[in-house]
Amino acid sequence: MPVERKKRIAMLASGRGSNFQAVIDAVAAGDIPAVCTGLVTDNPGAYAIERARAAGIPVTVVDYARFPTRAAYEEALLAAMRACRADLFVLAGYMRILGPAIVHEFSGRMMNIHPALLPAFAGLHAQRQAIEYGVKVAGCTVHLVDEGTDTGPIVVQRCVPVLPDDDESTLADRILIEEHRALPLAVKLFCEDRLEVSERRVRVR
Ligand code: GRF
Repeated sequence: MPVERKKRIAMLASGRGSNFQAVIDAVAAGDIPAVCTGLVTDNPGAYAIERARAAGIPVTVVDYARFPTRAAYEEALLAAMRACRADLFVLAGYMRILGPAIVHEFSGRMMNIHPALLPAFAGLHAQRQAIEYGVKVAGCTVHLVDEGTDTGPIVVQRCVPVLPDDDESTLADRILIEEHRALPLAVKLFCEDRLEVSERRVRVR
């Protein structure tokens, strides 16, 4: 029997990094059989950087503002991602759209967390979209990344009620609690080789 090695995971985050932290904690607790090989961020002020340092995870800042063109930024980002030598890339609050070269290179091994029950409310301000639309149930989705915005095959979804007095912020807080469960679960399933993808359906073994 071949000896299973732990998966190598790397994460991209642009800000607060609470989802990043949820995955770090699940790895540290032994729930996810993985080692975290790096955080890549586009934002030198991201609080996720502090979290990575506290956990001893190498950080690469690819500061979007310092590149003359989007193509130059994407090239540097791709190089930083390759350097992580990861089996899985996790977009944990990475707030930019990835270009086709990156999406193609890491196809099938890149996940994103989105704070809505896709395919409803893709794109920015998902919680605000949910409030404005008047839905009674909201939630979060972890999906594999494809060329579209928030369109890839769905791995895990979790839902929450929308209460009559909710505003964008109270709903976002309630969804975030579920994000912190959904993302580590999806990463764990990947790392345990339990995901089987056929067209856009993901089956959990
Ligand atoms: C989360 O709601 C995530 O779904 C969205 O951006 C937010 C990031 O929060 N893409 P955090 O940085 O993980 O705390």
